[in-house]
Formats: sequence, structure tokens, C-alpha cells
Amino acid sequence: MKIDVKLGDRSYPVVIEAGLLANAAHWLVPLARGRTMVIVTDSNLRHHRHVLERGLTAAGVATALIELPPGEGTKSWAMLEKLTDDLLDLGVERGDHVIALGGGVIGDLVGFACSILKRGCQFVQIPTSLLAQVDSSVGGKTAINARAGKNLIGAFHQPALVLIDPETLATLPVRELRAGYAEVVKYGLIDDPAFFDWCENHGAALIAGDIDLRTQAIAHSIAAKARIVAEDERETTGKRALLNLGHTFGHALEAETGFSDRLLHGEGVAAGMALAFGYSAARSRCSAEDSARVAAHLRSIGLPDGLSAAGIAASGATLVDHMRHDKKMAAGTLPFLLARGIGQTYVDSAVDLADVAGFLDAQPR
Ligand code: GLY
Repeated sequence: MKIDVKLGDRSYPVVIEAGLLANAAHWLVPLARGRTMVIVTDSNLRHHRHVLERGLTAAGVATALIELPPGEGTKSWAMLEKLTDDLLDLGVERGDHVIALGGGVIGDLVGFACSILKRGCQFVQIPTSLLAQVDSSVGGKTAINARAGKNLIGAFHQPALVLIDPETLATLPVRELRAGYAEVVKYGLIDDPAFFDWCENHGAALIAGDIDLRTQAIAHSIAAKARIVAEDERETTGKRALLNLGHTFGHALEAETGFSDRLLHGEGVAAGMALAFGYSAARSRCSAEDSARVAAHLRSIGLPDGLSAAGIAASGATLVDHMRHDKKMAAGTLPFLLARGIGQTYVDSAVDLADVAGFLDAQPR
């Protein structure tokens, strides 16, 4: 299946197909133009990399490899410097397409490196984690982390092609799979209540390994993301901001855990979405039933549905203080993604942070 991200002369296809990694050459040969293709990946993904290399070699495409350490620490100035120097040493030109094979860390770093290499070269995303397959590989947000916080240095730089093989998820730890699934649920909660129903009906089987359900969930998520990105590529009209549902609360929880493995990003988003609905219900913006339904589904998947499940004991004031460092803070206010119901998310820029702190203090610990 092919979904087009329609951005004028920067449009690109996202191809989703079980087994695609072995057949990626079909899509990559025209981009190689007879030149060596550089694959950037991490050392945990050698199996996937060998599958990709075998297919490219059989199709007559020469490859070069840059292997980086796995983990969030790779999204750093030091690794950006190493990667750009390595790409230059390999002779990458502006018209070449660098392949980012990996999860969100590899995709974000390679995308950013390609946005600045020779003032911009091409890249292809081949995401291997669920989080990257349903969100970060599409839409052109690229970044590294700074001392002051995550993703603070980056650029919008769209890939030329995204190839998604749901079979790569077979080797993903189940905790990471669940964390990525939070971003799937997000699309239902934003503006697609029928898809939230679908998640309630099929989420558990998807996590358990059903490849058809995984493929359907990825395709549905990417179709939603492609539509939103085409409408608001640079997050200026408020439409793309809807994709941040759960991220402001979630960011505070992640900051409280030091952005460590204690709480994965997707787990923070899950708890954050439950809190966004909980706050919306507590302030009579949406029904208590809808808020309870969101929490129940997340819980049923094994995702945190609030502070206590996320292991957070901090006070409301401490958590709100983390929110003040959010990069979306503008002129002293923080836009919150709240909900009028399932599938009815909206941006509220008049939320009082002291009120949010009071709400958080009232949550069970
Ligand atoms: N991950 C949110 C976005 O791409 O806008």
C-alpha cells in the first residue's frame, strides 16, 4: 500500500508492506542512480541491515555502512559531528539519498544531518520501531537533543521516501511496541472516534503479534499523519499541533524521570493522554465516561493511564515547572491539547498552569 504525503515539490510516498525490507531495492534503485548508497543504522539492528544490504547487492547497488550506538544519547552534537564527517568522507553528494534504518533516534539524527550536509541532501526513512513507523518517520521533523532539553536543535527536512515493513516489529521488545502503540491510539483520540473503537477491538491482538492488524494500524496512522502534515507542515495553523496530544503532560513526566528508561516516550504520551482527558473531564470540557474509556483502553494494553501507573510521585507544582520548559511555551502561555470527547481534541491556549498543578495534586499517587 502506498500513501502520498502531498507537499508540492517535496511530496513523497510512504510504502507500507509486510516483507518490504527484503524488496526495498525496487524503490531504492531509481534513487541510487548508479551510486553507492550509505546506510546509517544502529548496532542493535544488524539483522534488518543485512536483509536490506542483501536486496540492494542483488539489485546491483553498492552500499556503505555507518553504524552508531543505540539509545537516546546518539541524538547529540558529538554524534551529529561524527555522522556528518563520515558522510563527507564517503563522498555523499547533494543528490544522493542517505538511508536511515532504525527507530526514532536514527531517523531524527540522520534527517537532521541530511538537512545541513552540503546545505541539504536527500534521505530515505526505513523505520523499524512502531513509534517511528506510525509517527516520527513521516512529516520531516528532525532533531538532536541539547543540554536544555530534548529535540531543541533541529530542522524541518522531509524525506524523499519512507519504506515501512511491519515485519521488523517482530524483533521489537514488547515494552517498546506498547509505547509505540500509544501514538496509534492518539490518532483516534485526535479526530477519529471510529478508529478509537477499532483500537479498543483490535489493540490487544495487534500487540500480541497479528501482522495484518499491525499493517492496518500503521496504514491508518500514516494516512492521518500525511493528511495533517499536508495541511500544516510547519505547525503554524494549529492543525499539526493536535499531534502533540498527551505530549505536554507526558513531557513533564519524562522530565521528572530524567528522560530515562524509567518512562519511555510513548509511555509518557499514554499517561499524558489519560491526564489530558482527565483534566478535560475535571473541567467539564468532556464527559467522565470518555475520559474513563481512554484510561481503560490504555490500561488494558499495559500502558500507564496516569501518574501512579507511570510511577510519578512528584507534586503538581514540580510537574508544572517541567512544563514551563516545554519548547511550545510562547509569551508565557503553554498551549494545551484538551478534548471535548473522544475524537474531539482541540488547542486551549488559556489554561492556567496553577489550575493544572491543582488537578495533578488531586490525582492518586
Ligand atoms: N510527532 C509530532 C509531529 O510530527 O508533528
